[in-house]
Amino acid sequence: MNDQALVLGIETSCDETGIGVVRGSELLADAIASSVDAHSRYGGVVPEVASRAHLEAMAPTVRRALDTAGVALKEIDAIAVTAGPGLAGALLVGVAAAKAYALAADKPLYGVNHLAAHVAVDRLEHGPLPEPALALLVSGGHSSLLLIDDLARGVRPLGATIDDAAGEAFDKVARLLGLPFPGGPPIDREARAGDPGAINFPRGLTSPRDLARHRFDFSFSGLKTAVARWVEARERAGEPVPVADVAASFQEAVCDVLVRKALDACSEHGVDTLLIGGGVAANSRLRSMAEQRCAKAGVRLRAPRPKLCTDNGAMVAALGAHLVEAGVSASTLEIPADSALPVTTVSLHAGL
Ligand code: KG4
Ligand code: ZN
Repeated sequence: MNDQALVLGIETSCDETGIGVVRGSELLADAIASSVDAHSRYGGVVPEVASRAHLEAMAPTVRRALDTAGVALKEIDAIAVTAGPGLAGALLVGVAAAKAYALAADKPLYGVNHLAAHVAVDRLEHGPLPEPALALLVSGGHSSLLLIDDLARGVRPLGATIDDAAGEAFDKVARLLGLPFPGGPPIDREARAGDPGAINFPRGLTSPRDLARHRFDFSFSGLKTAVARWVEARERAGEPVPVADVAASFQEAVCDVLVRKALDACSEHGVDTLLIGGGVAANSRLRSMAEQRCAKAGVRLRAPRPKLCTDNGAMVAALGAHLVEAGVSASTLEIPADSALPVTTVSLHAGL
C-alpha cells in the first residue's frame, strides 16, 4: 500500500482542460485552461470547439502543472485520466494524451469516472471521506444521489435527474433572463439582491404521488418552463422583469429540492456524512442551505471549496491517488474513452 502516491490527473470531459498534481491528499497543482469564452456566444458547449481547445491546451497545461508542483514527469507514480462520462471527442483528447504520457514515461494509467472524481476531490480539502457517505453531485451534465460504501470499488446510484441536470437548468434560466453562459455564477450573483420567496416556483418530483416512484430522482424541466412562462407573462403585460427576484426564487426551488432529497436519502440509509460536489455545488445558496439543514439533521456536511467543485484536474488526480492507495490495479493502454460511462464504474480495467 502506497499512502503518498504522486499522481498526475487529466480532465477533458467538457470545456475545461484541467491538469492536477496531488501527493496523497495534498494538492500540489491545479492548472486549468478553459475554452468557456469560445462557447459563450452559442449558449452551450460546442463539442468540436472544446476538443480542438483541449488539443491545443494539453501540453502547455501539463507543463504548467508539473512546474507549479515542482516535480518532473519521471517522478510521478501514476497518471489518472477522466475516461467518461462526457463529450466523446473531448474525452478522447485527454485519454489519448494520458496514454501517451504513461507510455513515454512508463507509468501506470488509471482511466477513471468523472463523477467519482467529483467525490474524491474533497480529500484534498477535508481528508479521506468517511464511508459510508452520501454524495449529491450536481453539474452541467448530471444530478445524482450516490451512496458511497467504498469509493475505490463502486458507488450505488440512488437517484438522478429524469430530464435536465441542475446546472443545465441554471444555464437555461440564465439565458431567458438575458444573463451570460454559464448561467450558474450570474444567477448566484443576481439572486443575492433578490427575494427567494417572491415567486413560488414548483419543486419537481416532491408530490406524494411522484415521491412514490421517484423518491430520490430530480426533475428540473418543469421548473424551467414555469420560469419561462412567468417571465413571458410579465413581458406580455409590458411590465419589467424583476431579474433578481426571479433568479432568487428559481435558485431557492432548485436548492430546496436538492437538499431535501439528499437529507431524506441520508436518513433512509442511516448515513451521517453528506458530500456535495459538481459545478452547482459552488452555488452560495446551496452551500448555506445545506449547512443549515445538515446541522439541524445531525449530518456532517462536506463541501469542497467552489474552485474544486467545478471541473478540474486535481479531482482526477485525487481519485487516482485514492485508487493507488486502495490497491486497485491500473488500467491497460487499451481502455476507451466512454462518453456514457455508468456511474457504477469508478475505474476502467482490461476488457471494459
Ligand atoms: O461540474 P461542472 O464544472 O461541469 C460539468 O461536469 O458539467 O459544472 C458546470 C455547471 C454549469 O451548468 C454551471 O452553470 C454550474 O455548474 N455552476 C453553478 C455555479 N457555478 C457553476 N450553478 C449554480 N451556481 C453557481 N455558483
Ligand atoms: Zn463535472
